[in-house]
Amino acid sequence: MEQNAKIYIAGHTGLVGAAIHRRLQQAGFQNLLIVAHDDLNLASQHAVNSFFQEQRPEYVFLAAAKVGGIHANSTFPADFIYENLAIQTHVIHAAWKNGVKKLLFLGSSCIYPRLAPQPMKEEYLLSGILEPTNEAYAIAKIAGIKMCQSYRRQYGFNAICAMPTNLYGPGDNFDLENSHVLPALIRKFHEAQQNNVDKVVIWGTGTPRREFLHVDDLADACVFLMRNYADQQIINVGVGKDLTIRELAEMVRDIVGFKGKLEFDASRPDGTPRKLLDVTRLQGLGWQARIPLAEGIRETYAWYLAQTASTQSFSRREKKL
Ligand SMILES: NC(=O)c1ccc[n+]([C@@H]2O[C@H](COP(=O)([O-])OP(=O)(O)OC[C@H]3O[C@@H](n4cnc5c(N)ncnc54)[C@H](OP(=O)(O)O)[C@@H]3O)[C@@H](O)[C@H]2O)c1
Repeated sequence: MEQNAKIYIAGHTGLVGAAIHRRLQQAGFQNLLIVAHDDLNLASQHAVNSFFQEQRPEYVFLAAAKVGGIHANSTFPADFIYENLAIQTHVIHAAWKNGVKKLLFLGSSCIYPRLAPQPMKEEYLLSGILEPTNEAYAIAKIAGIKMCQSYRRQYGFNAICAMPTNLYGPGDNFDLENSHVLPALIRKFHEAQQNNVDKVVIWGTGTPRREFLHVDDLADACVFLMRNYADQQIINVGVGKDLTIRELAEMVRDIVGFKGKLEFDASRPDGTPRKLLDVTRLQGLGWQARIPLAEGIRETYAWYLAQTASTQSFSRREKKL
């Protein structure tokens, strides 16, 4: 990827897209193309085609998607499958058609079977039944992977697919109904502490094991892959270590400084029992995550505090959920 290359970051206002944008700026790339959702709806085939014809980006990071936690995924499966299929289909096709040199598609670890052996290797894709709570989203992501692989096979299009584990970091979504577990925990503990509440209830049993990657590490990996990876095989991006939701909750509780009790609501779904990515392939290329979890949570909590202090920018993100 040349320093002056025209690089389009689809979804640059999101958790991942914003981190990729920051990382590219840090690395000195100056010809970065970003467009607000309001000005370009990637679910519209016509709008996407016109955009690519006019702008002719050379590289594309496809970080635009409809994303949410267990609750949002199980309540709105139609929205998740439709919007994700539409966005990725239009962007990948238009990128190929308009001579993009390379595209990076972002999938997710939920593409792997619910009971896949742990840690999950790239070759476990399509080897078993998916987790039902986010099946529609996972099927859309799998279609995106197959689309990238098919365009590579038929047309020689250089599309690569990165599968990140659970992410967190500055810019995350902290809405209690729609967010992922880590930002939801930060907010719950923070509000409990502010309101002098004596206990915090956490969804599920606390026993599932999860892995968390700081979004700045992911962005670094995406830029690394754009420069160093050109294979049809998907590639996992994670830290290679996991912990239980209870351990995570205790870590967040201590960072936020909440002194009350933790209670687990077993009537809420747990999701997949364990999700840990095998990162041997990525490490073999010479990349490794750098930000320790506690340090990353501290930084994310500081960001959250700054956002809640400036109510305007925080509510902007909540309004659209
Ligand atoms: N977050 C995670 O833990 C996680 C884990 C693994 C993989 N990933 C993958 O990483 C990618 C990005 O996720 P994220 O967490 O960054 O999501 P996010 O914070 O919700 O950001 C999504 C981005 O996509 C944009 N977008 C959504 N629909 C659009 C549309 N129709 N037209 C134009 N732009 C649209 C959003 O713009 P607006 O905000 O303006 O609507 C936003 O910029 C996804 O493919 C996801 O599967 C995320």
